[in-house]
Order: sequence, then structure tokens, then C-alpha cells
Amino acid sequence: MSQETDPLTWARDYCPILRSFQAEYGDDEPLAGHTVAVATHLEAKSGILIETLHEAGADVLFAPSEPQSTHGDVVDALDAIDGVTAFAWEGMSDEEFDAQQHELLENEPDFILDDGCELISKAHADHSDVAVDVIGGGEQTTAGITRVEAMEEEGVLQFPVYTVNDTPMKHFFDNVHGTGESALTNIAITSNTIISGKDVVVAGYGYCGRGIARKARGMGAQTIVTEVDPRKALEAHMDGHRVMSMTEAAAVGDLFITTTGNRDVIRKEHFEAMTNGVQLANAGHFDVEIDVDALESLASDTSTPKEGVTRYHMPDGRDINLLADGRLVNLTGPYSQGHPAEVIDTTHSMMFVAAYDLIVENRDLTPGAYAIPDRLDREVAERKLETLDVTIDEMIESQREYATDWRHEGSSF
Ligand code: NAI
Repeated sequence: MSQETDPLTWARDYCPILRSFQAEYGDDEPLAGHTVAVATHLEAKSGILIETLHEAGADVLFAPSEPQSTHGDVVDALDAIDGVTAFAWEGMSDEEFDAQQHELLENEPDFILDDGCELISKAHADHSDVAVDVIGGGEQTTAGITRVEAMEEEGVLQFPVYTVNDTPMKHFFDNVHGTGESALTNIAITSNTIISGKDVVVAGYGYCGRGIARKARGMGAQTIVTEVDPRKALEAHMDGHRVMSMTEAAAVGDLFITTTGNRDVIRKEHFEAMTNGVQLANAGHFDVEIDVDALESLASDTSTPKEGVTRYHMPDGRDINLLADGRLVNLTGPYSQGHPAEVIDTTHSMMFVAAYDLIVENRDLTPGAYAIPDRLDREVAERKLETLDVTIDEMIESQREYATDWRHEGSSF
């Protein structure tokens, strides 16, 4: 006979760092008396972050950071916990997503963990009475940090926000390996076509783009990178990828993956140059990287040859296939489950320590965007190594002295 399992079980198994925080803070409940708002992709791994905040004493209000990435069974399981409240359901429209985020804010959280800065920006734009009492926040993704920094620049940011994405423990693992593996896996599953042998065009050679491009090459693709930053373009070139403009790449690519954090990266003139049967996917946070409106206006008709794929029929007979409506392909496709659990364990641990540090340890920060203190990044790295049962060296005394002695007495050349 098979037992009924809760939808968080599998993710919990692969999130040992978060479980270590649950074990450490479960008795003392250092976040008791606080209400933490979490906007994130609502699938099982996010449930473990919410569970950890709650174990540490916080009341948690949660909403999606993308309307299409919600898993209903996870929402129901979390909402059933006393002190945890959902502002979400599977299959929300964009309008319902907005309305639920506003309703969440009306419940007056005093801390905000965000993924894309929607909740933080709404708090400032429409709930200033709530924002004024918010202790702080944490922002998980590159695109969200751009918005937080723009708010700081404009002088409107009302509380300190830790820029979680910018820590090594986040972007070296989540963006490079998590996005790299999950974007390619979900493209392959959604299209059920092979990556090996294809000309794969990756737009943007930042943390996500370099992970996607390297892993695509590892799977046998011929990789092409497009960039706007000359140094990133050179890095891609030296890493062995072909580098060209999107105008050139449009004519030769089989599969296009955008991950720039920018808009209109693939647009009308590019669609016009593409060959029959190409596939387009977006792994950037917002669904603006592929100009879907332009694609629609060029097409004479559309069809759905497969769940998760929209086919745009061009008047000249070419077909262009768009995966997951141009939304985050690794999170919103019909089979998408986001990043591998072990990687999100690290990211969500950084989100947890951001909340813990600003609520419990570091209450004197003025409003602004702040790098997470290096000690917290190291702490999560140490916990991760412990879970892997990996031991590393410690500097001995002579090495510590050498590393801080600018005279380097005793060395010779
Ligand atoms: P990044 O800032 O490291 O890299 C972005 C790169 O795109 C930069 O090198 C930039 O020069 C380039 N770029 C900008 N405009 C461009 C254009 N028009 N054409 C070609 N290249 C252009 O950012 P990162 O961390 O790689 O993130 C990229 C996007 O992916 C963001 O929207 C981020 O929020 C999102 N993201 C998505 C994840 C997912 O699960 N799919 C996970 C983590 C981040």
C-alpha cells in the first residue's frame, strides 16, 4: 500500500541547507512577531523557503512572482499551515496576479522577499502607508535588482533591500547552473526535439547566458552568442562560441534562447530573417525579450502543434515556433518545474539569511540597495559543503600572515 505524500516531500529531501536553518531556529523562533511577504515562483522548492520562515517564527503571506508558474497542490499544502496565507492559485490571469499582490500588501507585511521587484514596487507605488513600516527586503533576481537600484537612484526607496542575486552563492550556481540546466531541459521536454547538432543562439552572455551556452555546447549544439557588451562578447568568443549580431544570427539559428533582462531582443526584422521551423524560448525574467506582439502582427495565422508551443504561420509559408508564450521557459512551460532543487536550496538559503539578518541582526540600515554581507555568503557556502560532506583546507598561521603582509619579507625572486 502506498502512503499519501505531501507535495513538498521531494523538494524538502533536496534542500538540506534550509532544513539546517529549520533545525537551528525552530525552537527559538527569532522571527516571531514579524510578517514576511514572499513573492516567488510557487512550486515545491519555494514551499521549503516559506516553511523555513514559518519554522523560524514568522507569519508568512505569499503570492506568485509569475502568474503562470504556480502549482496548485503546493499552494494548498502551504495555505493549510496556521500562520501561512496564500494569495495565489494555479492558472491566475495577469489581472488576478496584480490584484492578489495588492491584497497581500493590504495585510501589512513588515518584510518583503521578492523575485522581480513586483511586490516591492507595488508597495512603494500604491501602499506607501505599508511601505513606511517595512523593515527591509531581499530581491532574488537580476531583473528585480535593476528595478530596486532604479528606485534607489530616484530617491524613492523607503527601506533597505539586500540584493540577493549579486552574491556569489546565488549567481554562480542558480543563474549559471540552475538556469542553464533547467532552461535546456524544459525546452527539450516541451518541444520533444533534440538539442545536439542544432545551431543554438543565446542572447546575452551574463550569468544565465553563459550557463545555457556552455551546457548547450556540452549537449552537442553549435552555439552562437549575441551581446551588447563588448567584454561579454569577447568572453563568449574566448570560450569558443561564435559571436554575431542578432541580425546575422536570425538567419542561421535553429533554436533561440533569450536571457538578457532586456526587452525587444528578438523583434520584427529578426522574425523576417528566420528560417522555417525555428524555435524561440525566453529564459529572462520578464516576457518582453521576444517581441510577441510583432510576431503576432506578422503572422497570418497561429496554431498549437503541441502543448506549450504556439506556431506562427507566416504569409510566405514559414513557421516560427514560440515556446511557453515567451515567458520564462524553465518555469512556465507545461512540464516546467524550475531549477533543480539543490541549486534553489542555496538561493533560498540566501533569501532566508537576508530576512534573518535585516530583521534580527542589522536593524540600523537606512533605505537603499545593499550587497549581502560576505560573512552570510560564506556561512551558506560552509553549510552547503557540510551537506555534501566535503572538507576544505584552512589557512595555517604563516599563510594568514603572508596574505596580510604587503612587505612580503622573506620572499625572493
Ligand atoms: P546578467 O546581467 O549577468 O546578463 C545579462 C546579459 O545580457 C549582459 O551581459 C548584457 O550585456 C546582455 N544584454 C543586454 N541587452 C542585450 C541585448 N539587447 N542583446 C544581447 N545581449 C544583451 O544577467 P543574468 O543574471 O544572466 O540574468 C538575465 C535574465 O535572466 C534576467 O532577466 C534575470 O532576472 C533572469 N533570470 C532568470 C532565471 C530563470 O530561472 N530563468 C534565473 C536567474 C535569472
